[in-house]
Amino acid sequence: MPFNLKGRHFLTLENYSPREIRFLLDLSIKLKEDKYSGSRENSLEGKNIALIFEKPSTRTRCAFVVAGVDEGAHAEYLGMQDIQLGKKETVKDTARVLGRMFDGIAFRGFKHETVEQLARYAGVPVWNGLTDRFHPTQVLADFMTVLENKGCLKGVRFAYVGDGRSNVANSLMVGAAKMGMDFRIVSAEALFPAKELVKDAEEFAGENEGKITITSDVEKGVEGADVIYTDVWASMGEESKIAERIKLLGPYQVNRDMLDKTGNPHVIFMHCLPCFHNTCTELSSRYPDICEATDEVFESKHSKVFDEAENRVHTIKAVMVATLGR
Ligand code: CP
Ligand code: NVA
Repeated sequence: MPFNLKGRHFLTLENYSPREIRFLLDLSIKLKEDKYSGSRENSLEGKNIALIFEKPSTRTRCAFVVAGVDEGAHAEYLGMQDIQLGKKETVKDTARVLGRMFDGIAFRGFKHETVEQLARYAGVPVWNGLTDRFHPTQVLADFMTVLENKGCLKGVRFAYVGDGRSNVANSLMVGAAKMGMDFRIVSAEALFPAKELVKDAEEFAGENEGKITITSDVEKGVEGADVIYTDVWASMGEESKIAERIKLLGPYQVNRDMLDKTGNPHVIFMHCLPCFHNTCTELSSRYPDICEATDEVFESKHSKVFDEAENRVHTIKAVMVATLGR
C-alpha cells in the first residue's frame, strides 16, 4: 500500500512506522530495478538539494548526489569551509535562508540537535545523513541488503558486534525492533547503548514481535545469527579514544572463529564502511591493532558490504522521491 510521505523529514527511524519503513524499502527495490532496466521517472526534476556536510563522507555524499541526479535534481555540496553554519550565522538563520532557495536539505554532522533545528526552521524536507546519535539512511540500505539475501526481516537473527552505542548501532536497534527482528548488541559493557534508547527499542519490539538482547557474551550473542554486523570501533570525532577502544573491543573482532560460532553456514557479514580489515591506511599505520573485521571475513563469500554500499543510492533515492518527488 502506498504512503503519502510528501513533505516529511527523515531524521530518525523512531518517527517512521513499520509500514512506512517497509514502503521505503519496497520503493528502493523498485528504484533499483528501474535503474538497472534504464527507466527513469525524473521524479525530482527541477528540484535543488543542499548537502550540508560537517564530517567527511564517501558513500552518503555520493549517494545523495547520484540519486538526485538520476531523478533530475541538482545537488549542491556545502562543506564547512563553504558556509557559516553555527559560526558566523546561527543554524536557525541558515535553515531559513537555505529553505528559501532549496527544495530539500541533507545534513551530516555532529550534534543531532543541529539536524532537528534545520528541520524545525527550513520549511522543506530535511534528511539525516548521519549525526553522533543516528544514521537512519544507512539502516534502510542495510535492511534492503538483508531482504535481498534473506527474503524477509521479521524474525531475522541480527547480531551487531562492536561499539554498541554508535550512531549505526542506535539506528539499527530502533529499526530492527520496529521490523520485528531478533536483534542483539554484542559489546563490552562500557559500550552498551543508552538505557533510554534500549527501553524505547524494547517497546517497539514488543509491538512488532521483535526481540532485543544486549550482551557482552560473544557466544550467546552470535548464536544462530543470520547476520553479523559491525562498525568502526571509534566513530568520527572519537579519534582520541582509539587506543581505549582497541582494548575494549579486541574480543569483539569479527573473524572466522566468530562466524563459526554462529553455527549458521549461511550467515552474512555486513558493515556500513569504511572498515579497518587488516588494511593499510593513515590511521591503521598509527594504530596497527585497529581491525574490527579480519580481511578473511571481509573478502569472504559471506560478505555483502559492497551490495550494502550500492544500496545507499537506491534507499536515499527512495527517501528523496517519497518526501519530495512528484
Ligand atoms: N556508511 C557511510 O555513511 O559511509 P560514508 O561515511 O562514506 O558516507
Ligand atoms: N559510526 C561511524 C559510521 C560511519 C559511517 C561514524 O560515525 O564514524
